[in-house]
Amino acid sequence: MSKNILDYETVDLDVESGELVVIDQTKLPGNIKIIRLKTAKDIWDAIYLLKVRGAPAIGVAAAMGLYVLALNHKNDDNVTFFKKLEEYRDYLNSARPTAVNLSWALARMYRLAQSMKNEPVSVILDALRDEALTIKKEDIEVCRAIGEYGLSLVKPGDGILTHCNAGQLATCKYGTATAPIYLGYERGYDFKVYADETRPLLQGARLTAFELHSAGIDVTLICDNMSATVMKQGKINAVFVGCDRVAANGDTANKIGTSVVAAVAKYYNVPVYICAPTSTIDLDTPTGDQINIEQRPGTEVTEMWYKERMAPDGVKVYNPAFDVTDHSLISGIVTEYGIAYEPYTESLKKLKEQGR
Ligand code: MRU
Repeated sequence: MSKNILDYETVDLDVESGELVVIDQTKLPGNIKIIRLKTAKDIWDAIYLLKVRGAPAIGVAAAMGLYVLALNHKNDDNVTFFKKLEEYRDYLNSARPTAVNLSWALARMYRLAQSMKNEPVSVILDALRDEALTIKKEDIEVCRAIGEYGLSLVKPGDGILTHCNAGQLATCKYGTATAPIYLGYERGYDFKVYADETRPLLQGARLTAFELHSAGIDVTLICDNMSATVMKQGKINAVFVGCDRVAANGDTANKIGTSVVAAVAKYYNVPVYICAPTSTIDLDTPTGDQINIEQRPGTEVTEMWYKERMAPDGVKVYNPAFDVTDHSLISGIVTEYGIAYEPYTESLKKLKEQGR
């Protein structure tokens, strides 16, 4: 039987060759291309250009990437090694600002190295390799746990709407928002999934519809401006989306358009669940107003996915990659330790503490 997209690793470390290995998601769904990355510029570009994307997958790629880059300094003294490690950490961290998993994973790797700073470099490198592999392993376990909690919020036959791609391609397995869908599928829940195409980069059409369809799940692709229609028609029982950063008060940054879906869902009394590993909860950011929203090139809107340019030359384009959904529009935040409800300032803090 031929392999389907779910048989590939979204992010991997080739321990033998010391390379970061990812699916180039910009080529999906037409072409499953695996790329091997070894230089700082190639790893940075892969994150910035969304070859590897989705908050948890970015975190894992950055952790593995940092290890791969640190390998170049295996013969250096400790002072030089740490100087380079710090440089690589800051460089990779500058690739994308909104997903907190990027800085979270890099900080975790750096902290570990610092905790053994007087050990030989070879010993530090072994520990960094193991830590990167652990971050990946944890991501799979965390997503599965999110799936179990998420599944408790819906029933067989339900219609579920999702936005962007918070699927296996955004993580190492199961996804976050798609984890309840995959687990439900295994148990015969027969969900009807609606995937927003997700302008401008079409993660919903190219990635979510692709991976769910490949898994045999009943998925229907809709344009972003159709969510009100399917909700009004009673086709949607719950919205499950992922997120890039959850502020301490529950305000949530996710792919641009999520807050529109959440506002419409509130109007039609459809619950909105944010699926988030606790690594995506950022208690140091008090509210959504402090979240740094990535701005991306206007060409993504005007021409990137078209055969020819679809806007007049020289027209101004505003292209924020994420928006913030106000916590008042969110029915619950599903984590690996359970579901947080209002007041989020208290419930999120409790869940984070459980993680420590
Ligand atoms: O720009 P992207 O494709 O990286 O945006 C991804 C999202 O917005 C996802 O919903 C989010 O990272 C959660 S992934 C589990």
